[in-house]
Amino acid sequence: MTDQYAGTPSDGDRPMLPVLRWEEPPDGPVLVLLDQTRLPAEEVELICTDVPALVRAIRTLAVRGAPVLGIAGAYGVALAAARGYDVEEAAAQLGSARPTAVNLAYGVRRALGAYRAVVEKGADEKAAAEAALAEARQLHREDAEGSAAMAAKGLALLDELLPGGSHRILTHCNTGALVSGGEGTAFAVALAAHKAGRLRRLWVDETRPLLQGARLTAYEAARNGLSYTLLTDNAAGSLFAAGKVDAVLIGADRIAADGSVANKVGSYPLAVLAKYHHVPFIVVAPVTTIDPDTPDGASIEVEQRSGREVTQLTAPPQAGGATVRQGVGVQVAPLGTQAYNPAFDVTPPELVTAIVTEVGVVSPVTGGGIEELCARSRQVTIS
Ligand code: MRU
Repeated sequence: MTDQYAGTPSDGDRPMLPVLRWEEPPDGPVLVLLDQTRLPAEEVELICTDVPALVRAIRTLAVRGAPVLGIAGAYGVALAAARGYDVEEAAAQLGSARPTAVNLAYGVRRALGAYRAVVEKGADEKAAAEAALAEARQLHREDAEGSAAMAAKGLALLDELLPGGSHRILTHCNTGALVSGGEGTAFAVALAAHKAGRLRRLWVDETRPLLQGARLTAYEAARNGLSYTLLTDNAAGSLFAAGKVDAVLIGADRIAADGSVANKVGSYPLAVLAKYHHVPFIVVAPVTTIDPDTPDGASIEVEQRSGREVTQLTAPPQAGGATVRQGVGVQVAPLGTQAYNPAFDVTPPELVTAIVTEVGVVSPVTGGGIEELCARSRQVTIS
């Protein structure tokens, strides 16, 4: 048995369980994940005792969202080291579990680098495992700090762009505490606006086909007391046309050197709409999401997922039972229908008003601006 479950039905009055945590019970260390496939109906923890279990959790989106994938990857290396598995092999498996969010490979590389540095000095495996764990914890802390910095910078930018002080923000997919060591990326900015009394409404795209917006962003918005409204992804156009969107705030899974932004599929059409309607389109992401080795949008590998996620309507998670990933869905397309199901799309830099990171804001978004930002960033230099 490599993964186990523990949990209760979701109860909005209790604080949210941590999205992931390291534990050391007597029978060996484990990585405990809040299983995001079961939200919002149940807060259930998934206990990973080995790397295959963690890889499975990443692929099935039990843990998901770029920044936290990096943290999970780093803890995964620490788990392999602490349990005496082949660390190099584990790192290779973890780093390639999903292809688009560059943070995953980054987190794996950080922990592996710390592990190797100790091994190369001739120290024992225990010391090397401790170094990998310390690095994972450090990355976890950095992400939390980065999240707070992005929230502050993002809110300042919103206030500058929208002097009225009563923001109606549209967001897509999920970018809150569920993807982060802190309060997230784009959602953290909306939350900061809410706390400052300047968020009039958060428009939440449901985010087909896996409903990260309806299940997860609405869950986070409700828990934090935001005024929010859920909409189908294709209702966004009419909302823009009615003049009810002041800004779009989204996260990113990878930002190329030229400023192209890969994010959850459906982001690019929003950017086109925003441009047409003269609405700022703002991307919020930590510097670890920038990949200087990916020159442009066309070079970003976009994950293609199973067509079943489109041809079937998945039942909402229910206490004690169904999960999104188990395909308990009802077949809605004729059997045998082929589906196109990219997980992400790429928005070109000219459609992005600004990229907000923890170290600064790039606007206008150009390769030169990205390069300058990277030069300022300790994280990117380390990698
Ligand atoms: O496929 P997912 O759920 O891992 O997608 C990632 C996302 O949540 C979004 O694309 C998000 O906007 C960027 S990660 C903060």
